[in-house]
Amino acid sequence: MKNYQNMLIVGSQWGDEGKGKITDTLAENFDIVVRYQGGNNAGHTIYVKNKKRVLHLLPSGVLHEHCMSILGQGMVVDLSSLKEEIRQLDDITLTNKNLKISNQAWVVTPYHQILDALREANSQIGTTKKGIGPCYEDRATRRGLKIRDLFDYSSLVKKLDLQAKEKFCLFHHLPEYKKIVEETKISIPSVEECAKNLHSLAEYFSSFIDDTSKYLWDNLDKKRMLFEGAQGILLDPDVGTYPYVTSSNTIAQGVMSGCTIPIEKMDCILGISKCYTTRVGNGPFPSELPTAQASILQKLGNEVGATTGRVRRCGVLDLPLLRYAARISSLTHLALTKFDVFQEFSHHQICTQYRWKNEVYDQYWPFMDWEKIEPIYEEIPAQTLQSMENFQHYIEEQVKIPVPIITFGPNRDQIFYNR
Ligand code: GDP
Ligand code: IMO
Ligand code: MG
Repeated sequence: MKNYQNMLIVGSQWGDEGKGKITDTLAENFDIVVRYQGGNNAGHTIYVKNKKRVLHLLPSGVLHEHCMSILGQGMVVDLSSLKEEIRQLDDITLTNKNLKISNQAWVVTPYHQILDALREANSQIGTTKKGIGPCYEDRATRRGLKIRDLFDYSSLVKKLDLQAKEKFCLFHHLPEYKKIVEETKISIPSVEECAKNLHSLAEYFSSFIDDTSKYLWDNLDKKRMLFEGAQGILLDPDVGTYPYVTSSNTIAQGVMSGCTIPIEKMDCILGISKCYTTRVGNGPFPSELPTAQASILQKLGNEVGATTGRVRRCGVLDLPLLRYAARISSLTHLALTKFDVFQEFSHHQICTQYRWKNEVYDQYWPFMDWEKIEPIYEEIPAQTLQSMENFQHYIEEQVKIPVPIITFGPNRDQIFYNR
């Protein structure tokens, strides 16, 4: 793999493509690894010498001692979850020499989590209930808190009060409120309780909290940077399968607002795709397999969500979706994961085109209703795509971008570089 100065990794399906494993493996050759959007809705599983780690908020370079890990300003951060995540990495020492948290990142509060859970009782998006949507929503309604707002206690109480006031009204009027409170035993903290807790968490993390935007600018073109997107392009609220999406921009362009580094500084934008397709949560999924076939893939691929433990829905590789992802996110390269699972099958069904109103298209276009697309499949004998080289050539020809990486197992060394 070429030594890129700045590289951006994005999921090119509905998340869980194996971004964490690839980021961890490539991080060996980078100085800084940056998360710039999303929060602990992400779940990135990494195996190093068969030891399993699951990261949610920390960038997937954190297992490399030489890497600086950055939580950028576009992220939504639940500080108590971050504390717990760091505690679980008991053999990794994190100091301000290898971890920085943006003072401008958004704070997830218990009110966001409660609202997410209450809404889920009705809306059935299938969110992770981590409060991600309500936190980004408060950014838009100007009721959000940035990490830097947590230090001055009296102004924090005022800002939090503004955020909480309307939510208290909403909570008590949502019909699910009583049921959820009884079922989950959650209690809604008062503004003072919540402010005290957030203030003390900010004090706890104070040595890590910094202006990461200046740090990145000062080091741009001097240090090698790897930017790690969370979720996947089809979960983007602007170009994904809305409303069944997350609430931050997951397309490559999200890096610009998420950590203020211009996209033209990226000399590689690497999309990650499984050799098949999965999705957690609800929403359209054109190449989804019927239950019996999906459960074979679920078992072989161990398709269980790392954040919520939900079984992932499974489908075949969807080329119109990948071509759309590549176009919309300006992907320069593609990495394919889980080739070992793909290889288990004696023939392959691949979705090569979409039929929409009697016309055939090579990629998704926004005039199509995701729910009504008719996928067109091709059956390909296994021997045609048996080797990684054959599969690489097939995908390069189909998607028209280079495929420099194929992975064939969850460990760091189970990776094949084509160039
Ligand atoms: P992410 O959210 O994109 O980082 O992906 P997840 O970590 O949520 O899900 C990907 C899963 O696939 C994880 O359990 C990885 O350990 C696993 N994985 C990654 N690459 C491979 C591979 O090539 N083969 C197999 N069998 N598993 C893989
Ligand atoms: P990584 O980084 C897969 C999905 C949820 C739900 C929708 C909205 O591990 O690839 P949210 O809690 O974000 O409001 O939920 O988005 N979702 C993911 N699916 N991988 C993820 O992250 C996801 N993060 C959110 O399942 O359908
Ligand atoms: Mg994941």
